[in-house]
Amino acid sequence: MTYILGNAPTAEFRLQLLDELTSPPFVKAVKKLLPKQNMRIVILGCGSGHLEARLAQIFSNCHFIGIDISKARLAEAKARVVQLTTTNTFEFIEGDLTKMEPIACDILISRFVLSHLQDPEAVLAKFSSSVRSRGYVCIEEHASDGKEYYSNTRDVGYESFVRAVDIQIQAQKSHFDTSLKLFSNPPGKVIHRHITQPILDSARTKSILRLGLQEAPHLVPESAALISALHAFEQDDKAYGLYMRYLAFITQIT
Ligand SMILES: C[S@@+](CC[C@H](N)C(=O)[O-])C[C@H]1O[C@@H](n2cnc3c(N)ncnc32)[C@H](O)[C@@H]1O
Repeated sequence: MTYILGNAPTAEFRLQLLDELTSPPFVKAVKKLLPKQNMRIVILGCGSGHLEARLAQIFSNCHFIGIDISKARLAEAKARVVQLTTTNTFEFIEGDLTKMEPIACDILISRFVLSHLQDPEAVLAKFSSSVRSRGYVCIEEHASDGKEYYSNTRDVGYESFVRAVDIQIQAQKSHFDTSLKLFSNPPGKVIHRHITQPILDSARTKSILRLGLQEAPHLVPESAALISALHAFEQDDKAYGLYMRYLAFITQIT
């Protein structure tokens, strides 16, 4: 399986929306449960560094190592962290998680990347094996079965919203299974879990759905019509959608 959302110019903005919609509860759990000083933290599929920027606010004297396969995302991540005033340090590695050696750390974080890989369990096992004893593994993945979304309007906007979510879920069919598999065979003792299901209720947040489809047009046969219906949905103040479900958990290596 290859990563279907590649290097479109809107990728960073889409990841920013994903961050806004999903990171607050994740960061809250990390803040509550993990040691936050002098840690070595590896982030798999770090994307544009939004999480690093958030964690830099609560961690101190830590070293962050972000790994991603995309040069463009890594360039954005580097540009983001140089603007921070922090006691933490940052390193970014361009690499394919399926091929590279794991990196020793105290905390391993992986969000929304494992389910894009052919054998997510093997990649997680490989990287978890390099987390020190009593260290932590924090994972968040898509957990949508395609049944949970809704919108408050039942007009053309609603139909397009449902169709668009459906396409994304079909395209990422294995995500739900992946989440369940990872969740039922965690790398350590589970000390926390939560579900996030964002409500898309502004033109800005609603656009995450359309951006995803526009970045992978080969998935959408009726692309132009659907995109224009989604535009209408975004502009309709009354319309909102309950979006995909995300499952997060934190484990401690025993
Ligand atoms: C949905 S994005 C999530 C990014 C980030 N974790 C976040 O929450 O914003 C998935 C990221 O995984 C990266 N990726 C996909 N396949 C990869 C692989 N085999 N090795 C390393 N990174 C990969 C992509 O380039 C992308 O930045």
